[in-house]
Amino acid sequence: MKKFSVVIAGGGSTFTPGIVMMLLDNLDRFPLRTLKLYDNDKDRQKILGDALEILLKEQAPEIEFIYTTDPKTAFTDVDFCMAHIRVGKYAMREKDEKVPLRHGVFGQETCGPGGIAYGMRSITGMLEIIDYMEQYSPNCWMLNYSNPAAIVAEACRVLRPNSKVLNICDMPVGTLRRMSQIVGKKPEELEVRYFGLNHFGWWTSVKDKEGHEYLDQIRDYVSEHGYLTQIEVDTQHTDPSWQETHKKAKDILAVTPEYLPNTYLKYYLYPDYVFEHMKEHPEYTRANEVMQGREKHVFDHARKIIENGSAEGIGFDIDSHATFIVDLARAIAFNTHERMVMIVENNGAIANFPDNAMVEVPCIVGVDGPEPLTQGNIPAFQHALMFQQVTVEKLVVEAYVEKSYQKMWQALTLSKTVPSAQVAKELLDDLIEENGDFWPELH
Ligand code: NAD
Ligand code: G6P
Ligand code: MN
Repeated sequence: MKKFSVVIAGGGSTFTPGIVMMLLDNLDRFPLRTLKLYDNDKDRQKILGDALEILLKEQAPEIEFIYTTDPKTAFTDVDFCMAHIRVGKYAMREKDEKVPLRHGVFGQETCGPGGIAYGMRSITGMLEIIDYMEQYSPNCWMLNYSNPAAIVAEACRVLRPNSKVLNICDMPVGTLRRMSQIVGKKPEELEVRYFGLNHFGWWTSVKDKEGHEYLDQIRDYVSEHGYLTQIEVDTQHTDPSWQETHKKAKDILAVTPEYLPNTYLKYYLYPDYVFEHMKEHPEYTRANEVMQGREKHVFDHARKIIENGSAEGIGFDIDSHATFIVDLARAIAFNTHERMVMIVENNGAIANFPDNAMVEVPCIVGVDGPEPLTQGNIPAFQHALMFQQVTVEKLVVEAYVEKSYQKMWQALTLSKTVPSAQVAKELLDDLIEENGDFWPELH
């Protein structure tokens, strides 16, 4: 079997060790000849790089391993770039979550004003790594899950329309794993129909390969427990705030009982509830939970491996739910025609939605990338919500391109999460101040 060369962009990410462990666990399906980590933060990269170098020497010495902050070294001779960068890192995520609170609006990584602010920062970083990839390995594919994926995907559509960038999210996969446990099946035994935007969608069908429909059974369960399951199905979405989110799916379902909702819809359908909840601990948001949890855990582990000079008995957890990234790489490399939910240009997949909207739908993935599967017409309620949100995402990208204060103000005003143009303006001025040089200067 062919062996692949992979670079992980955002090599200093809290998710990097879990992804590397997942890659090692899948070498029989997706063999590696070279694995590189690339980050633009030297110190952060060095800790995970040194630890993983020790671990790889012990567990897979045949793989060439390099970590670097030099784009040429990172992007030369690579087949796939797995990208998960966070422009501004956790310091800025914390601001995305806390600045809106001053204005009576919840703050979140990818939704509402926090997501809009993060989008404005991410575009620059994304364009930078796409351009490096194309300069040094023109045939390379980027499998991108850097957030906010909806805005990043729209920016790619507008600014890098011919680039081989595939935008993906783990929420459809993560939730399907919960559904599979609810109905007592394996996730790979289930096939879904789904429509929406990233972090903004609904399942319209969940069937096994024989064609049995589980929608009613799952709906009954979710209407009582949300997506909270008996046994944890992944290592990622388990902290108290995530448990709360899984549970809240019950109330989202109540609004549109015909379809099963993505958990992120809570930010659009229950923004007041999220805000009240956050107000109880305005100094301790998800960013703090991650900094004191996952980030601390991962970097402490890495330091221990370096100190011991060995990963034996220390190791890292496998990010097992991230195997969909290998499924995607395999789909392209081996033309497997795997069915996967991806973020793609609509072009009729949702019949009554604009062609040029970036939507999230099931696709068949092969050597040329994703072929979206048609999902038909969607109901007025979902259509209206989605059209409002996709217009926000488009306005952010237009604001970035045109450096337009006006469009950014409109984007915030239009967001269902912001109560008025007045609040939107005050928020925007605050976000401009807090984001400094991470944002283009708006006029
Ligand atoms: P993190 O801050 O720990 O890691 C991000 C890394 O990216 C940092 O080491 C940072 O230095 C680096 N970076 C920033 N800008 C860069 C640039 N221009 N070039 C190279 N490296 C750069 O963040 P995290 O919590 O581990 O998350 C990483 C990313 O993955 C985030 O964007 C997060 O939202 C995303 N994510 C997405 C999904 C999904 O469903 N799509 C799932 C999980 C995580
Ligand atoms: C889910 C979403 C990602 C998001 C992540 C946040 O996996 O699909 O897009 O980045 O949750 O998780 P965190 O643990 O960092 O809050
Ligand atoms: Mn996501």
